Amino acid sequence: MNILAVESSCDETAVAIVRDGREVLTDCIASQVALHREYGGVVPEIASRKHIEAIYGLADQALENAGLTRDEIDAVAVTYAPGLIGAVLVGVNFAKAAAMALNKPLIPVHHIRGHIAANYLAYPDLEPPFLCLVVSGGHTMIIEVKDYTDMQILGTTLDDAAGECFDKVGRVLGMPYPGGAALDKAAQQGDETRYHLPVAKPGENPYNMSFSGLKTATLNLIHHAEQVGEELDIPSLCAAFTAAVSETLVPRVVRALEETGYKKVAVAGGVAANSRIRHDILEAAGKLGAEVYMPPLKLCGDNGAMIGSQAYYEYLVGNVADMSLNAYATKSILGEAL
Ligand code: KG4
Ligand code: ZN
Repeated sequence: MNILAVESSCDETAVAIVRDGREVLTDCIASQVALHREYGGVVPEIASRKHIEAIYGLADQALENAGLTRDEIDAVAVTYAPGLIGAVLVGVNFAKAAAMALNKPLIPVHHIRGHIAANYLAYPDLEPPFLCLVVSGGHTMIIEVKDYTDMQILGTTLDDAAGECFDKVGRVLGMPYPGGAALDKAAQQGDETRYHLPVAKPGENPYNMSFSGLKTATLNLIHHAEQVGEELDIPSLCAAFTAAVSETLVPRVVRALEETGYKKVAVAGGVAANSRIRHDILEAAGKLGAEVYMPPLKLCGDNGAMIGSQAYYEYLVGNVADMSLNAYATKSILGEAL
């Protein structure tokens, strides 16, 4: 089954064609990152307008790359939530029109389910059940993936997402948007013991997380240094910040592995590209004898292929939409009747 998959929830316009959930025939992405960089973050209206300009051409390009005709597309999938609402609406409207024109099923996909599915593309043998640490620009969660479309949230951030904090700290340090990748690179040259930053202690739900205290402490440290004219050791500050994020995430993943007895853990989302977090998860899960699944960097960030993969499994359980499908800025990953 060839699924044409559309992703437009943030600042990447992406159209992919994925066969049977696992084989990527093409994965076309038009990134707007350079455009938003001059504003220090995504400007929602600009994002929507750029999606509208790019999406039709990208779909034609995807067909050409895959060597397929329109008749050979069996379904159209689209990220329908969550994301910047104007941006998601562009993808949803395009996908509805395409599904209607081709007279093929329309499959709505939750963006975070898509991030998890990036692992199915990277690991052809991976099947649920497994645990998944989702760390993106907007979400930070530990999820029990019981089946392809049956999930349970074990823990979630109570305030900011990890990626949001990377971007905010990166911005204040003068790094280009989005700050995560630049901060990761700088941290690799630093000494994490030079600065002490707080790590949130487990609360009532030991899997829940919090990053706002860490973010505020880091920003205060930077502003204080500016005020007193102290020169910061930026690589070391980046290393201490990244270590604190990892120390928030990894022990909770370890605990989840121990308490659930799962022997498989995947990571997903843009922040899953972070070298320190990847290293720490590999090491900690390895000690427990658990298998670790980490998509290659290009599948960690937003892309259409991950949506095409998850869409296949949504289709198999009948999760298809009609022409009344709407877009949502927020929606639970657990899904509900459309
Ligand atoms: O999953 P994603 O592409 O978009 C959302 O669904 O939010 O995640 C984007 C986030 C941004 O916050 C970006 O700074 C972060 O992923 N990111 C990283 C790294 N690469 C991307 N954060 C830390 N280290 C990285 N290497
Ligand atoms: Zn994403």
